[in-house]
Amino acid sequence: MSATCGFFFFSFTLLFSFFSFLIFVTRMKPWCNCDICKSYLTVAWATKFANLCDWYAHLLRKSPSGTIHVHVLGNTITSNPDNVEYILKTNFQNYPKGKPFSAILGDLLGQGIFNVDGDSWRFQRKMASLELGSVAIRSYAMDLVNEEIHARLIPLAASTARGEFNANRVLDLQDILRRFSFDNICKFSFGLDPGCLLPTLPVSDIAVAFDLASKLSAERAMASSPFIWKAKRLFRTGSEKKLKEAIKVVHDVADNMIKQRREMGFNSHRDLLSRFMGCVDDDAYLRDIVVSFLLAGRDTIASGLTGFFWLLSRSPEVEARIREEVGRVVGPGLEFPTFEQIRHMHYLNAAVHESMRLFPPIQFDSKFATEDDVLPDGTFVRKGSRVTYHPYAMGRMENIWGPDCLQFRPERWLRDGVFVPPCPFKYPVFQAGLRVCLGKDLALMEMKSVVISLVRRFDIRVVEPDLDLRFAPGLTASVRGGLPVRVSERK
Ligand code: HEM
Repeated sequence: MSATCGFFFFSFTLLFSFFSFLIFVTRMKPWCNCDICKSYLTVAWATKFANLCDWYAHLLRKSPSGTIHVHVLGNTITSNPDNVEYILKTNFQNYPKGKPFSAILGDLLGQGIFNVDGDSWRFQRKMASLELGSVAIRSYAMDLVNEEIHARLIPLAASTARGEFNANRVLDLQDILRRFSFDNICKFSFGLDPGCLLPTLPVSDIAVAFDLASKLSAERAMASSPFIWKAKRLFRTGSEKKLKEAIKVVHDVADNMIKQRREMGFNSHRDLLSRFMGCVDDDAYLRDIVVSFLLAGRDTIASGLTGFFWLLSRSPEVEARIREEVGRVVGPGLEFPTFEQIRHMHYLNAAVHESMRLFPPIQFDSKFATEDDVLPDGTFVRKGSRVTYHPYAMGRMENIWGPDCLQFRPERWLRDGVFVPPCPFKYPVFQAGLRVCLGKDLALMEMKSVVISLVRRFDIRVVEPDLDLRFAPGLTASVRGGLPVRVSERK
């Protein structure tokens, strides 16, 4: 009897899985023959474009509604600001992150803010916005950034300029900025200093594990079907085995920090973990919350600054104007510009916004529709399908930024010398609407502090300025092969 039941159960499970797979495959339309899908599947786009995002930008520019479909991915991609506002604000309830996204990042981020919807998201959003909005945390963040700049970043740039690092006075700026931002975000989130930017540029276990975990998690999203990575995870093979090991390193570090804080008391500490400990008792939940912050602040800032210095290296007139403004606002002697002084640098603010218009750290972001819907441009969205807004393409739209949209021109952000904030739905670099980035002000402050300190003292020139940037696939934009720059000290 039990053998018969077992047989029926097994057959039912097999049939159910088979039909689920068929429905999944049918929805994916893997056989679609339209030009976009053919070009996507055969990678024909790569003969004309350096990056997938450049090809999407080209297609979106040609589309009258600013929306395209990649049927084989079940993905509707839009650069239309009305659609972006609708997805991120007006009909926010219908466009959560959704299960497919949570599954991809779930092992690394667990229930952390980046990876959840509904009540858990609301709770973390409220708690985090209270903390991140406080004057105390802002001044703590500013202290950390200034310390890392003056104790590590400037000495490293100076020794490179003196040729002590290598005879060519060249360093990989992207790598240095990633080390810089990882030290900062770990100190800020955990009160832990991984020392990635110490003079020997050591290999840090947590940084390596964190990078690997984010990279392999992002690669899950590129698998032609989630069944592939899920099967690999089930059998603990290949990339999934490595991912599990890398996540364990990250989680162990976080768990140890939490344990130490619980034992030694957290009231005297200024980092985010200690601040959240008063509100959250569940240590696994606490770990997820803090790990999300590592992801938020690690590569985004480094990526934004890498794009900035690439553009600046090709625009000496912008560099001269930034130097003039910094000199005027800060004066010659002061080492640390204050928060207030940075706020008064309108041209610098414009230049940083302008660089992220062209090179947003998060190039695209997807949501999954819970119900059938119609976007403001008339596009039908099927329940369960993916909708992506594309800040990289949006920064290159003539109908949003005018005919000079491909030029790096900070002046477009200024009216009578005063910075005019962008419409967030035309410039969703920090997302927009109800889930807008909570670290935006901190991130801008950190980026501007780095720019001020480096530009004042050094000339930083990209070694191969004529090469276009090629991006590696991942959650955050990173330049394939890094960004070699030559550093020289200004007279
Ligand atoms: C240039 C730097 C940054 C950029 C461009 C950026 C951009 C973004 C974007 C696009 C999102 C939405 C992601 C999504 O929902 O899929 C986001 C969310 C978020 N960011 Fe940032 N971010 C930056 C730096 C930071 C920093 C330094 C922190 C923390 C200190 C931070 C904290 C957060 C948090 C907590 C969220 C989740 C908000 C929510 O889901 O309600 N970000 N950010």
